[in-house]
Amino acid sequence: MEKSKKQTVFSGIQPSGNLHIGNYLGAIKQFVRLQDETDALFCIVDEHAITVPQDPRILREKTLEVAMLYLAAGIDPKKAVIFIQSQVPAHAELGWILNTMTPLGELERMTQFKDKSAKSSKAGILAGLLNYPTLMAADILLYQTDLVPVGKDQKQHVELTRSIAERFNNRFGQTFKLPKELLNKQTARIMGLDNAEKKMSKSAESKNNHIALLDTPDEIRRKIKIAVTDSGSEIKYALKEKPAISNLVAIYSEFSDKPISDIEKMYFGKGYGDFKKDLAEVVVEGLKPLQEKFKTLEKDPEGVLKILRAGAKEAAERAGRTIKDVKKKLGFVL
Ligand code: TYM
Repeated sequence: MEKSKKQTVFSGIQPSGNLHIGNYLGAIKQFVRLQDETDALFCIVDEHAITVPQDPRILREKTLEVAMLYLAAGIDPKKAVIFIQSQVPAHAELGWILNTMTPLGELERMTQFKDKSAKSSKAGILAGLLNYPTLMAADILLYQTDLVPVGKDQKQHVELTRSIAERFNNRFGQTFKLPKELLNKQTARIMGLDNAEKKMSKSAESKNNHIALLDTPDEIRRKIKIAVTDSGSEIKYALKEKPAISNLVAIYSEFSDKPISDIEKMYFGKGYGDFKKDLAEVVVEGLKPLQEKFKTLEKDPEGVLKILRAGAKEAAERAGRTIKDVKKKLGFVL
């Protein structure tokens, strides 16, 4: 199929903290699959990361690390555009423009803002945290995106993006395509290993909350061994009744490519101990190719930077068309 007839896919990941298997299963695994059938762009959203204070040295390191993880997971720069958000100025430009037309109430209603701001005093909440979703809308709308593969926690932001786009189109004429979120039902919300009521998160307090993509095999085994379970002893996928085991079964299924029903059959009559031991090996083996590829990429940061610069060049060209149209419609002198 011609590139122009394919659906456009856009998504991004923040270079903050360590990427974990929730990010992988909820987002990156979908990216890898989608790059073959769609016109895909995957971004490292450093401008989003600075909505909470970052150490510049670590931010730089983590930005390259996310790029290497994208590549190590199998995103191929020949198939998809990989780039750093701050290398394409149109993101910040359109983000600002969208800020001027987005009601405060809509931003204050965002669950992620409410959660993150609840952790600080009012004086400690930065304006950028509130405006986070308008920058995300800019990311998506610049590329006339059809589909946004994300985890469930980002669904509300994509819905807001759609309403921002609709409002702009109604006022200024057709400018933006209306995007839709793409969730993978089984992995849209991977829960914390230490608490099955809360999603797995980069910023969780406990190190035992998540398995990082670069955790060593022993660390992975240890974290799975101490992961919370539910009462009873049956290995069964039943989200309401057994949230912790269901989460582990979903992780098993994703890393082994076995359907959940097969896993339930395999462990019928067996206990949590046997299941967890096998799960640890499935995850260790599942992450092995990615970790090996990461080690190779780490030796060639210049090569990775080259891919990112080429990606930014292509992204800037494409984003440039949309931002030019937007500016013209607003009455900016070009
Ligand atoms: P971020 O960096 O927090 O997370 C990256 C991706 O991982 C998904 N995710 C999860 N999926 C399943 N289970 C979990 N426990 C889990 N935790 C995280 C997230 O949903 C996300 O898809 N705002 C975005 C970054 C962003 C973006 C964009 C995404 C900026 N601009 C434009 C899409 C399109 C974020 O904070 O992701």
